[in-house]
Amino acid sequence: PEFITVANLANALRVRSEDFSRKLRQLGFDEVGPDYILNAENAGLISMEYGFEPQVEAEEEDEDLYPEPVPDDTSLLPSRPPIVTIMGHVDHGKTTILDYLRKTSVAATEYGGITQHIGAFSVNLESGRTITFLDTPGHSAFLSMRQRGANVTDIVILVVAADDSVMPQTIEAIKHSKAAGVPIIVAINKMDKEDAQPDRVKQDLARYGVEVEDFGGETQAIPVSGKTGLGMEELEEATVLLSEVLDHRAPRDGNVEGWILETTTRKAGRVATVLVRRGTLRVGQILVAGTTWAKVRTLKNEAGVDVAEAGPGTPVEVDGWRDQPVAGDEALQADSEQHADAVTRYRQAKVEQSRAADDVEHINEARRLEQ
Ligand code: GTP
Ligand code: MG
Repeated sequence: PEFITVANLANALRVRSEDFSRKLRQLGFDEVGPDYILNAENAGLISMEYGFEPQVEAEEEDEDLYPEPVPDDTSLLPSRPPIVTIMGHVDHGKTTILDYLRKTSVAATEYGGITQHIGAFSVNLESGRTITFLDTPGHSAFLSMRQRGANVTDIVILVVAADDSVMPQTIEAIKHSKAAGVPIIVAINKMDKEDAQPDRVKQDLARYGVEVEDFGGETQAIPVSGKTGLGMEELEEATVLLSEVLDHRAPRDGNVEGWILETTTRKAGRVATVLVRRGTLRVGQILVAGTTWAKVRTLKNEAGVDVAEAGPGTPVEVDGWRDQPVAGDEALQADSEQHADAVTRYRQAKVEQSRAADDVEHINEARRLEQ
């Protein structure tokens, strides 16, 4: 057992409860009554005070999967598409700009015109280059990825409406980009509007540490309109140029690694959009994400078309999940279904252990308050 009450431990050690209480106080356990629950570690230390040798159960073997280390020198690896995330305040025009870039009309079909999910898609440019765009409504998946030290985004396009300027979510996006060390390109949107005030936007941005080129800084700010198409070519060009400078590369071989961007349920079953970070994802491979896994049944691109494989920097819809994965989780390739099963069981057990420890803490706290 992982836990034992003070009363049961005293009993097991055959110590009178008054003597035991005194001993516990000496050892620094203040205000612990007979119902107080001790964890295995503390119970072991206390037992040693009475000359017992606690039997330590062998540590469970670590069955987890871990990402491979990133090589220091990536210069010889193949190039991958840059991952560009569109951020900005509600209604400032993120989806409209993305639509323009992909020349479809998701914004019009989205429920109420509000982005419900992270859209992820790759655009093939005339130059033969590919850019992967992510549309973000909120930052929760991004926060959870960042907490795990993941830099999913290479470039942030910060959309600021020229008639509204810097707003709370603009500031949040700036903080997010700076914390992640990701360069920003500002798109000053809605330039077609009569009350557009691009200079005010630039001044406001400077107040939050984003210095644009006209104001002596290094950040590009491009006036655009998602409505008329003004500045869209410049925005695309600026993104391509910056990504050429950044020169992102990743191995296309070895174990597949990626991140779960979003999940949904379709007729076909549970699907998750996976953004591949390294390796090449193919049908039949086994992916573990959090406490679930998939034997990849199909891979579809953002247009819903089956694809044979997805390399680094590419988002792809994966189905075949045992349970619904969680957006923001890391996806790692396992070498067999048995392996994936062992890893997810191990992770599940870890989750339950830490939950039990939390429960014990709450019970002890409640009993302390009762006293
Ligand atoms: P959320 O996903 O809800 O955060 O919004 P969003 O930033 O994706 O904004 P969206 O693209 O949905 O645009 C919001 C509204 O602004 C829509 O009614 C668009 O038609 C309008 N809009 C977007 N860009 C422009 C623009 O350049 N000019 C004008 N006049 N309207 C625009
Ligand atoms: Mg949107």
